[in-house]
Amino acid sequence: MSSRRSLLVRRRGISWLRNSVLLFIVVFVWLQLNFLSLRNSSDTGQEINDSYAAILSMVPSLLHKFLTPRPFNRSLSNLTIGNLFSKSSLNISEMKYFINRYNKEQTVINENIFGPLQNDSIVIVVQVHDRINYLRHLIVSLAQVTDIAQVLLIFSHDFYDEEINGLVQSIDFCKVIQIFYPFSIQTHPNEFPGEDPKDCPRNMKKELAVARKCKNAMYPDHYGHYREAKFTQTKHHWWWKANRVFNELEIMKNYTGLVVLLEEDHYVAEDFLYVLKKMEQASKDSCRYCNMLSLGNYLKTYNYYSDSRKVEVTPWISSKHNMGMVFNRSTWVEIVGCAEFFCKYDDYNWDWSLQQVSQNCLKHKLHTMVVRAPRVFHIGECGVHHNKSNCLSTAIISKVQQVLKSAKKYLYPSYLTLSYTTVLKKAKLRKGNGGWGDKRDHILCLAMALKYV
Ligand SMILES: *[C@@H]1O[C@H](CO)[C@@H](O)[C@H](O)[C@H]1NC(C)=O
Ligand SMILES: *[C@@H]1O[C@H](CO)[C@@H](O)[C@H](O)[C@H]1NC(C)=O
Ligand SMILES: *[C@@H]1O[C@H](CO)[C@@H](O)[C@H](O)[C@H]1NC(C)=O
Ligand SMILES: *[C@@H]1O[C@H](CO)[C@@H](O)[C@H](O)[C@H]1NC(C)=O
Ligand SMILES: *[C@@H]1O[C@H](CO)[C@@H](O)[C@H](O)[C@H]1NC(C)=O
Ligand SMILES: *[C@@H]1O[C@H](CO)[C@@H](O)[C@H](O)[C@H]1NC(C)=O
Ligand SMILES: *[C@@H]1O[C@H](CO)[C@@H](O)[C@H](O)[C@H]1NC(C)=O
Ligand SMILES: *[C@@H]1O[C@H](CO)[C@@H](O)[C@H](O)[C@H]1NC(C)=O
Repeated sequence: MSSRRSLLVRRRGISWLRNSVLLFIVVFVWLQLNFLSLRNSSDTGQEINDSYAAILSMVPSLLHKFLTPRPFNRSLSNLTIGNLFSKSSLNISEMKYFINRYNKEQTVINENIFGPLQNDSIVIVVQVHDRINYLRHLIVSLAQVTDIAQVLLIFSHDFYDEEINGLVQSIDFCKVIQIFYPFSIQTHPNEFPGEDPKDCPRNMKKELAVARKCKNAMYPDHYGHYREAKFTQTKHHWWWKANRVFNELEIMKNYTGLVVLLEEDHYVAEDFLYVLKKMEQASKDSCRYCNMLSLGNYLKTYNYYSDSRKVEVTPWISSKHNMGMVFNRSTWVEIVGCAEFFCKYDDYNWDWSLQQVSQNCLKHKLHTMVVRAPRVFHIGECGVHHNKSNCLSTAIISKVQQVLKSAKKYLYPSYLTLSYTTVLKKAKLRKGNGGWGDKRDHILCLAMALKYV
């Protein structure tokens, strides 16, 4: 009897164990299914279909026009001089002419349709180089954002291209304005800020450079290298754009609302403005010292099911919180007050330079509220300095589409939950990554801001 009972008990024990193991596996698998990741498709064993047709099939047909290359239509820009109309490409002085006109006229496309900019509108600034295929997808993603109609979209270009202009000018879902960085390499091919033939080669030793009397012989960076024009442009452009947007654009004169910074190879979620407004409110209510909001992150996996509403308050770190950054004029005024720290720091990365500003100059160091489940994604597989051949992959675009599709029912959280990180390993800010030792870069950078300090 007793042995029977013990057997029964053991049986029951076993089946209890088996059931809990089963339950555990089910829960585990189910949780796993909610984890999404961009980089490793092999994890899930799923092949991603990133054919053009597959990507197109995920885009509402109304928006296919943004993905379809079309012969550009210069009459849209309404900037024509003489017989340029029929020419297929512009020479440099013509480009400079157009760039000046765009910058002077500050034409706001669709203003008559969407009305004036209000303080509770949102301004989105997109820094654009030449990767039009990514830009097409960014525009498609923006077109699907809830409340996009109230936004002012600013495109800041450092590469003049009629096809890109045509694409931007075909945007019909909100107000749009284009600004052009006037010191680009494209329009200064043989002179600073481009590459002057009299500049010292990157790897020349200083003694030799001095003997040769090349132009910037006295100003290698602290690793002993001379400037490379193409690596300086992004920081210059970033700084110029921010100054331009806050201080020179007429339409921005009275604007005190939020400014979102994006890049041509970003992709946004449809609830990104909704979440942004919630974050703005949360920072007013619960984080008075937050002077930055971040809509992207670099986590490897996402779980919208559990994290859709989670945000974290943390000191701003350049390498973690530089994607989908958002701040307002008062934060910008403090940053630009530290122009020297930004412009003289020997680092060609704008985000590391901003870190320098935060750490060594700002009265209120940068603190950000960052989403746990990203609303801004990075779809550019290769940087600005790319080799065309390896930049054609569309796998990530397809992946982001899939991630957002499966996250769909968890978007638009009705409230946010905050967590706070205060203790950080003492951020070791070393002497910078170099590439920014040339006095001419410091002077140009300061000149962009000096008017306002
Ligand atoms: C990829 O998707 C497209 C459109 O949905 C389909 O026509 C094509 O057959 C798919 N290719 C593969 C390899 O699954
Ligand atoms: C070019 O723009 C004009 C005026 O907006 C329009 O009538 C014409 O159809 C456009 N042409 C093309 C090829 O898009
Ligand atoms: C082009 O500019 C002229 C005057 O400069 C203006 O009357 C006209 O409406 C503009 N056309 C477009 C399509 O913007
Ligand atoms: C550029 O083209 C214009 C004509 O549109 C011409 O007058 C000018 O000389 C050209 N400039 C250069 C540098 O080729
Ligand atoms: C800014 O405000 C001033 C004073 O109220 C007004 O005159 C001006 O038109 C406004 N500018 C813009 C672009 O709204
Ligand atoms: C925004 O708010 C500021 C300060 O309250 C005000 O001076 C400005 O006129 C407002 N601008 C707009 C466009 O409403
Ligand atoms: C701008 O942001 C700061 C936080 O950085 C906040 O204290 C301030 O109220 C904001 N200004 C406006 C006009 O919303
Ligand atoms: C680009 O490609 C060329 C030749 O294919 C190669 O020599 C060069 O190192 C590549 N550059 C980069 C940044 O990968």
